[in-house]
Amino acid sequence: MSLASASPLWLRDNCPCADCRDPRNGQKLFQITELPGALAVDAVRDARTPDGSPAREVVWSPDGHRSVYPESWLGDHLPGASAAPGDGRTEDDKELWAASRFDGGLPEADWNAYLGDPAVRAAALDSVLRLGFVLLRGVPVRDRHVLDVAGTFGYVRETNYGELFDVRVEADPNNLAFTGARITPHTDNPYRDPVPTLQLLHCLVNAAQGGDSGLVDGFHAAALLRAEAPEAYEILTRVPVPFAFADERTELRAHRPLIGTDPDGRIREIRFNNRSIGTLRLPADRLDAFYAAYRRFGELLLRPELQLDFRLVPGDCLIFDNTRLLHARTAFAESGDRHLQGAYADIDGLASTLAVLRREGSTR
Ligand code: OGA
Ligand code: ZN
Ligand code: ZN
Repeated sequence: MSLASASPLWLRDNCPCADCRDPRNGQKLFQITELPGALAVDAVRDARTPDGSPAREVVWSPDGHRSVYPESWLGDHLPGASAAPGDGRTEDDKELWAASRFDGGLPEADWNAYLGDPAVRAAALDSVLRLGFVLLRGVPVRDRHVLDVAGTFGYVRETNYGELFDVRVEADPNNLAFTGARITPHTDNPYRDPVPTLQLLHCLVNAAQGGDSGLVDGFHAAALLRAEAPEAYEILTRVPVPFAFADERTELRAHRPLIGTDPDGRIREIRFNNRSIGTLRLPADRLDAFYAAYRRFGELLLRPELQLDFRLVPGDCLIFDNTRLLHARTAFAESGDRHLQGAYADIDGLASTLAVLRREGSTR
Protein backbone atom coordinates (compact mmCIF):
# COMPACT_ATOMS: atom_id res chain seq x y z
CA MET A 1 0.00 0.00 0.00
CA SER A 2 1.31 3.43 -0.84
CA LEU A 3 1.71 6.10 1.79
CA ALA A 4 -0.54 8.57 0.01
CA SER A 5 -3.50 6.20 0.29
CA ALA A 6 -3.02 5.39 3.98
CA SER A 7 -5.78 6.74 6.21
CA PRO A 8 -4.75 10.39 6.71
CA LEU A 9 -5.95 10.70 10.30
CA TRP A 10 -4.22 7.45 11.22
CA LEU A 11 -0.97 8.52 9.60
CA ARG A 12 -1.03 11.99 11.15
CA ASP A 13 -1.99 10.59 14.56
CA ASN A 14 1.27 8.63 14.41
CA CYS A 15 3.51 11.56 13.50
CA PRO A 16 6.70 11.13 15.55
CA CYS A 17 7.83 14.78 15.46
CA ALA A 18 8.66 16.66 18.64
CA ASP A 19 5.59 18.90 18.28
CA CYS A 20 3.32 15.87 18.18
CA ARG A 21 5.05 13.72 20.81
CA ASP A 22 7.06 14.67 23.85
CA PRO A 23 10.57 13.38 23.02
CA ARG A 24 11.21 12.65 26.70
CA ASN A 25 8.46 10.05 27.02
CA GLY A 26 6.92 9.49 23.60
CA GLN A 27 3.49 10.61 24.80
CA LYS A 28 1.15 12.34 22.40
CA LEU A 29 0.78 16.09 22.83
CA PHE A 30 -2.43 16.74 20.87
CA GLN A 31 -6.07 15.70 20.99
CA ILE A 32 -7.71 13.96 18.05
CA THR A 33 -10.13 16.91 17.91
CA GLU A 34 -7.24 19.30 17.25
CA LEU A 35 -6.29 17.80 13.87
CA PRO A 36 -7.64 19.63 10.79
CA GLY A 37 -10.95 18.18 9.65
CA ALA A 38 -10.03 18.05 5.95
CA LEU A 39 -6.62 16.52 6.53
CA ALA A 40 -4.87 15.31 3.37
CA VAL A 41 -1.40 14.26 2.25
CA ASP A 42 -0.05 17.07 0.08
CA ALA A 43 3.31 15.60 -0.90
CA VAL A 44 5.50 12.60 -0.09
CA ARG A 45 9.26 12.51 -0.60
CA ASP A 46 12.28 10.45 0.44
CA ALA A 47 13.99 11.66 3.57
CA ARG A 48 16.24 10.57 6.45
CA THR A 49 15.54 10.40 10.14
CA PRO A 50 17.82 12.49 12.41
CA ASP A 51 19.95 9.38 12.94
CA GLY A 52 20.29 8.83 9.17
CA SER A 53 17.90 5.93 8.59
CA PRO A 54 15.80 5.92 5.40
CA ALA A 55 12.43 7.57 5.86
CA ARG A 56 9.50 9.17 4.05
CA GLU A 57 8.46 12.72 4.63
CA VAL A 58 4.83 13.73 4.37
CA VAL A 59 3.76 17.34 3.91
CA TRP A 60 0.21 17.88 5.10
CA SER A 61 -2.57 20.04 3.86
CA PRO A 62 -4.14 22.27 4.93
CA ASP A 63 -1.73 23.11 7.78
CA GLY A 64 1.67 22.48 6.10
CA HIS A 65 2.80 20.22 9.01
CA ARG A 66 5.70 17.90 8.13
CA SER A 67 5.99 14.32 9.39
CA VAL A 68 9.01 12.05 8.91
CA TYR A 69 8.21 8.34 9.18
CA PRO A 70 11.09 5.83 9.34
CA GLU A 71 10.80 3.22 6.55
CA SER A 72 11.17 0.50 9.19
CA TRP A 73 8.14 1.83 11.07
CA LEU A 74 6.07 2.03 7.89
CA GLY A 75 7.12 -1.51 6.96
CA ASP A 76 5.86 -2.78 10.29
CA HIS A 77 2.69 -0.71 10.62
CA LEU A 78 1.12 0.14 7.26
CA PRO A 79 -2.19 -1.69 6.85
CA GLY A 80 -1.60 -5.13 5.41
CA ALA A 81 2.16 -4.98 6.12
CA SER A 82 2.12 -7.69 8.79
CA ALA A 83 -0.35 -9.25 11.19
CA ALA A 84 -1.22 -6.93 14.05
CA PRO A 85 0.04 -8.35 17.36
CA GLY A 86 -2.58 -9.32 19.93
CA ASP A 87 -2.67 -7.91 23.46
CA GLY A 88 -1.10 -11.07 24.86
CA ARG A 89 -4.18 -12.14 26.77
CA THR A 90 -6.31 -14.11 24.31
CA GLU A 91 -6.19 -17.70 23.10
CA ASP A 92 -4.23 -16.55 20.02
CA ASP A 93 -1.26 -15.59 22.18
CA LYS A 94 -1.20 -18.79 24.24
CA GLU A 95 0.01 -22.34 23.90
CA LEU A 96 -3.11 -24.33 24.76
CA TRP A 97 -2.48 -27.64 26.46
CA ALA A 98 -3.81 -30.94 27.74
CA ALA A 99 -2.14 -32.84 30.59
CA SER A 100 0.13 -34.93 28.34
CA ARG A 101 1.91 -31.73 27.25
CA PHE A 102 3.80 -32.05 30.54
CA ASP A 103 4.74 -35.74 30.35
CA GLY A 104 8.34 -34.57 30.13
CA GLY A 105 8.03 -32.34 33.19
CA LEU A 106 6.39 -29.21 34.53
CA PRO A 107 7.55 -25.68 33.70
CA GLU A 108 9.57 -25.02 36.81
CA ALA A 109 12.47 -23.02 38.16
CA ASP A 110 14.67 -23.27 41.21
CA TRP A 111 14.11 -20.29 43.50
CA ASN A 112 17.78 -19.35 43.82
CA ALA A 113 18.36 -19.57 40.08
CA TYR A 114 15.18 -17.55 39.53
CA LEU A 115 16.47 -14.82 41.84
CA GLY A 116 20.05 -14.88 40.61
CA ASP A 117 19.72 -15.31 36.86
CA PRO A 118 17.56 -12.93 34.81
CA ALA A 119 17.33 -15.52 32.03
CA VAL A 120 15.80 -18.07 34.41
CA ARG A 121 13.44 -15.42 35.73
CA ALA A 122 12.39 -14.45 32.19
CA ALA A 123 11.78 -18.08 31.21
CA ALA A 124 9.62 -18.60 34.32
CA LEU A 125 7.54 -15.48 33.70
CA ASP A 126 7.20 -16.41 30.04
CA SER A 127 5.74 -19.78 31.12
CA VAL A 128 3.02 -17.98 33.06
CA LEU A 129 2.06 -15.96 29.99
CA ARG A 130 2.35 -18.80 27.46
CA LEU A 131 1.27 -21.90 29.42
CA GLY A 132 -0.59 -20.19 32.27
CA PHE A 133 1.67 -21.32 35.12
CA VAL A 134 5.09 -21.99 36.52
CA LEU A 135 6.20 -23.92 39.59
CA LEU A 136 8.97 -22.36 41.65
CA ARG A 137 10.87 -24.95 43.70
CA GLY A 138 12.95 -24.52 46.79
CA VAL A 139 11.22 -21.33 47.90
CA PRO A 140 12.00 -20.80 51.60
CA VAL A 141 9.32 -22.39 53.78
CA ARG A 142 8.64 -19.22 55.72
CA ASP A 143 5.49 -17.56 56.89
CA ARG A 144 4.42 -14.72 54.50
CA HIS A 145 7.19 -15.50 52.02
CA VAL A 146 4.57 -15.76 49.27
CA LEU A 147 4.44 -11.95 49.40
CA ASP A 148 8.14 -11.79 48.55
CA VAL A 149 7.55 -14.11 45.61
CA ALA A 150 4.85 -11.77 44.27
CA GLY A 151 7.25 -8.86 44.77
CA THR A 152 9.75 -10.38 42.33
CA PHE A 153 7.45 -9.66 39.38
CA GLY A 154 4.72 -7.32 40.53
CA TYR A 155 2.42 -6.16 43.28
CA VAL A 156 0.21 -8.03 45.68
CA ARG A 157 -3.49 -7.54 45.11
CA GLU A 158 -5.05 -7.29 48.55
CA THR A 159 -8.60 -8.56 48.97
CA ASN A 160 -11.13 -9.25 51.71
CA TYR A 161 -9.06 -12.38 52.43
CA GLY A 162 -6.12 -10.13 53.33
CA GLU A 163 -2.73 -9.54 51.70
CA LEU A 164 -2.37 -13.27 51.83
CA PHE A 165 -4.69 -16.09 52.79
CA ASP A 166 -3.98 -19.27 54.70
CA VAL A 167 -5.35 -22.37 53.04
CA ARG A 168 -5.74 -24.81 55.93
CA VAL A 169 -8.53 -26.36 57.90
CA GLU A 170 -10.43 -23.81 59.93
CA ALA A 171 -13.03 -24.35 62.66
CA ASP A 172 -15.55 -21.94 61.12
CA PRO A 173 -14.61 -21.67 57.43
CA ASN A 174 -16.04 -18.80 55.35
CA ASN A 175 -14.97 -20.75 52.25
CA LEU A 176 -14.84 -24.46 51.45
CA ALA A 177 -11.17 -23.97 50.58
CA PHE A 178 -10.56 -23.83 54.34
CA THR A 179 -11.86 -27.37 54.94
CA GLY A 180 -10.55 -30.77 53.85
CA ALA A 181 -13.14 -31.04 51.08
CA ARG A 182 -12.30 -31.89 47.50
CA ILE A 183 -12.33 -28.76 45.37
CA THR A 184 -13.12 -29.31 41.71
CA PRO A 185 -11.51 -27.18 38.98
CA HIS A 186 -12.37 -23.53 39.47
CA THR A 187 -11.09 -20.01 39.10
CA ASP A 188 -10.86 -17.85 42.21
CA ASN A 189 -12.90 -14.77 43.04
CA PRO A 190 -15.20 -14.71 39.98
CA TYR A 191 -17.41 -12.49 42.13
CA ARG A 192 -14.87 -9.67 41.68
CA ASP A 193 -14.65 -7.31 38.75
CA PRO A 194 -11.86 -6.95 37.93
CA VAL A 195 -10.93 -10.45 38.97
CA PRO A 196 -7.43 -11.03 40.41
CA THR A 197 -5.58 -12.12 37.30
CA LEU A 198 -2.79 -14.08 39.01
CA GLN A 199 -2.79 -16.42 41.96
CA LEU A 200 0.14 -17.73 43.98
CA LEU A 201 -0.03 -20.80 46.18
CA HIS A 202 3.00 -21.42 48.39
CA CYS A 203 3.16 -24.82 50.08
CA LEU A 204 4.42 -24.72 53.66
CA VAL A 205 3.19 -28.16 54.80
CA ASN A 206 1.57 -31.00 52.88
CA ALA A 207 1.66 -34.02 55.16
CA ALA A 208 -2.03 -34.94 54.93
CA GLN A 209 -3.40 -37.99 53.16
CA GLY A 210 -4.70 -36.48 49.88
CA GLY A 211 -4.59 -32.81 49.03
CA ASP A 212 -3.05 -33.29 45.58
CA SER A 213 -3.25 -30.43 43.08
CA GLY A 214 -4.72 -30.19 39.62
CA LEU A 215 -4.66 -27.61 36.83
CA VAL A 216 -6.85 -27.41 33.72
CA ASP A 217 -6.31 -25.07 30.77
CA GLY A 218 -9.66 -23.30 30.62
CA PHE A 219 -8.88 -21.72 27.23
CA HIS A 220 -8.25 -25.16 25.77
CA ALA A 221 -11.45 -26.51 27.35
CA ALA A 222 -13.48 -23.57 25.99
CA ALA A 223 -11.97 -24.07 22.52
CA LEU A 224 -12.99 -27.75 22.70
CA LEU A 225 -16.52 -26.74 23.68
CA ARG A 226 -16.64 -24.34 20.73
CA ALA A 227 -15.65 -27.19 18.38
CA GLU A 228 -17.90 -29.84 19.93
CA ALA A 229 -20.99 -27.83 20.91
CA PRO A 230 -21.00 -24.41 19.25
CA GLU A 231 -24.43 -23.41 20.60
CA ALA A 232 -23.43 -24.24 24.17
CA TYR A 233 -20.22 -22.23 23.72
CA GLU A 234 -22.19 -19.30 22.33
CA ILE A 235 -24.54 -19.31 25.33
CA LEU A 236 -21.67 -19.38 27.81
CA THR A 237 -20.01 -16.39 26.13
CA ARG A 238 -23.23 -14.37 26.29
CA VAL A 239 -25.17 -15.12 29.45
CA PRO A 240 -24.04 -12.97 32.40
CA VAL A 241 -23.73 -15.20 35.45
CA PRO A 242 -24.33 -13.62 38.87
CA PHE A 243 -21.34 -14.63 40.97
CA ALA A 244 -21.56 -13.75 44.64
CA PHE A 245 -19.66 -14.10 47.89
CA ALA A 246 -20.80 -13.04 51.33
CA ASP A 247 -19.61 -13.43 54.88
CA GLU A 248 -19.89 -11.27 57.99
CA ARG A 249 -17.71 -8.49 56.62
CA THR A 250 -18.08 -8.84 52.87
CA GLU A 251 -20.65 -8.84 50.13
CA LEU A 252 -19.27 -9.08 46.62
CA ARG A 253 -20.92 -9.71 43.30
CA ALA A 254 -20.05 -9.60 39.62
CA HIS A 255 -22.17 -10.51 36.62
CA ARG A 256 -19.96 -11.96 33.92
CA PRO A 257 -20.17 -14.84 31.42
CA LEU A 258 -18.35 -18.11 32.13
CA ILE A 259 -16.37 -17.64 28.92
CA GLY A 260 -15.28 -14.07 28.23
CA THR A 261 -14.30 -13.15 24.67
CA ASP A 262 -12.65 -10.08 23.19
CA PRO A 263 -14.38 -7.89 20.56
CA ASP A 264 -13.02 -10.21 17.84
CA GLY A 265 -14.57 -13.24 19.53
CA ARG A 266 -11.32 -14.72 20.88
CA ILE A 267 -11.38 -16.49 24.26
CA ARG A 268 -9.93 -14.14 26.84
CA GLU A 269 -11.25 -14.94 30.33
CA ILE A 270 -12.72 -17.96 32.08
CA ARG A 271 -14.76 -17.63 35.26
CA PHE A 272 -15.87 -20.95 36.67
CA ASN A 273 -16.64 -21.65 40.30
CA ASN A 274 -19.57 -23.82 41.35
CA ARG A 275 -19.27 -22.57 44.94
CA SER A 276 -20.08 -18.99 44.09
CA ILE A 277 -22.56 -19.06 41.20
CA GLY A 278 -25.67 -17.29 42.46
CA THR A 279 -29.23 -17.56 41.25
CA LEU A 280 -29.73 -16.77 37.57
CA ARG A 281 -32.86 -14.77 36.75
CA LEU A 282 -33.93 -15.57 33.20
CA PRO A 283 -37.01 -16.90 31.37
CA ALA A 284 -37.39 -20.66 31.84
CA ASP A 285 -36.37 -21.61 28.29
CA ARG A 286 -33.19 -19.59 28.55
CA LEU A 287 -32.45 -21.17 31.92
CA ASP A 288 -32.83 -24.63 30.35
CA ALA A 289 -30.40 -23.70 27.61
CA PHE A 290 -27.92 -22.12 30.01
CA TYR A 291 -27.95 -25.07 32.38
CA ALA A 292 -27.47 -27.58 29.57
CA ALA A 293 -24.48 -25.57 28.32
CA TYR A 294 -23.06 -25.04 31.83
CA ARG A 295 -23.31 -28.75 32.55
CA ARG A 296 -21.65 -29.65 29.27
CA PHE A 297 -18.73 -27.31 29.97
CA GLY A 298 -18.53 -28.65 33.54
CA GLU A 299 -18.28 -32.22 32.21
CA LEU A 300 -15.62 -31.20 29.72
CA LEU A 301 -13.55 -29.56 32.46
CA LEU A 302 -13.55 -32.86 34.38
CA ARG A 303 -12.08 -34.91 31.52
CA PRO A 304 -9.07 -36.68 33.01
CA GLU A 305 -6.90 -36.01 29.96
CA LEU A 306 -7.31 -32.26 30.43
CA GLN A 307 -6.31 -32.13 34.09
CA LEU A 308 -2.65 -31.99 35.00
CA ASP A 309 -2.19 -33.71 38.38
CA PHE A 310 0.74 -33.17 40.71
CA ARG A 311 1.49 -32.76 44.37
CA LEU A 312 2.87 -29.65 45.99
CA VAL A 313 5.67 -30.23 48.47
CA PRO A 314 6.92 -27.71 51.03
CA GLY A 315 8.93 -25.03 49.25
CA ASP A 316 6.87 -25.18 46.07
CA CYS A 317 5.18 -22.00 44.95
CA LEU A 318 2.75 -22.24 42.08
CA ILE A 319 2.08 -19.05 40.11
CA PHE A 320 -0.83 -19.21 37.69
CA ASP A 321 -3.10 -17.17 35.45
CA ASN A 322 -6.46 -17.02 37.22
CA THR A 323 -8.19 -15.75 34.07
CA ARG A 324 -7.23 -18.91 32.18
CA LEU A 325 -6.32 -21.92 34.32
CA LEU A 326 -8.68 -23.67 36.68
CA HIS A 327 -7.16 -25.18 39.80
CA ALA A 328 -8.34 -28.07 41.92
CA ARG A 329 -7.33 -30.22 44.84
CA THR A 330 -8.31 -33.66 46.01
CA ALA A 331 -9.90 -34.09 49.45
CA PHE A 332 -7.57 -34.54 52.37
CA ALA A 333 -7.86 -35.95 55.87
CA GLU A 334 -8.54 -33.07 58.22
CA SER A 335 -6.47 -34.85 60.85
CA GLY A 336 -3.37 -34.40 58.67
CA ASP A 337 -1.26 -31.30 58.42
CA ARG A 338 -1.63 -29.18 55.29
CA HIS A 339 -0.94 -25.48 54.98
CA LEU A 340 -0.65 -23.34 51.87
CA GLN A 341 -0.33 -19.58 51.80
CA GLY A 342 -1.95 -17.89 48.86
CA ALA A 343 -1.87 -14.39 47.44
CA TYR A 344 -3.21 -12.60 44.40
CA ALA A 345 -1.35 -10.35 42.00
CA ASP A 346 -1.88 -9.05 38.49
CA ILE A 347 -0.67 -10.40 35.19
CA ASP A 348 -0.17 -7.04 33.49
CA GLY A 349 2.57 -6.32 36.03
CA LEU A 350 4.17 -9.70 35.37
CA ALA A 351 4.09 -9.05 31.60
CA SER A 352 5.70 -5.66 32.20
CA THR A 353 8.49 -7.18 34.29
CA LEU A 354 9.17 -9.71 31.54
CA ALA A 355 9.14 -7.04 28.82
CA VAL A 356 11.68 -4.94 30.74
CA LEU A 357 13.90 -8.00 31.33
CA ARG A 358 13.83 -8.62 27.58
CA ARG A 359 14.52 -4.97 26.79
CA GLU A 360 17.58 -5.17 28.99
CA GLY A 361 18.67 -8.07 26.79
CA SER A 362 19.51 -10.19 29.77
CA THR A 363 17.57 -13.20 28.57
CA ARG A 364 18.70 -16.21 26.61
C1 OGA B 1 -8.07 -22.01 47.03
C2 OGA B 1 -7.77 -23.32 46.52
C3 OGA B 1 -6.29 -25.18 46.52
C4 OGA B 1 -5.62 -26.10 47.47
O1 OGA B 1 -7.68 -21.74 48.18
O2 OGA B 1 -8.67 -21.23 46.30
O3 OGA B 1 -8.27 -23.65 45.49
O4 OGA B 1 -4.75 -26.84 47.01
N1 OGA B 1 -6.90 -24.10 47.17
O5 OGA B 1 -5.94 -26.12 48.66
ZN1 ZN C 1 4.09 16.09 13.98
ZN1 ZN D 1 -9.06 -21.69 44.54
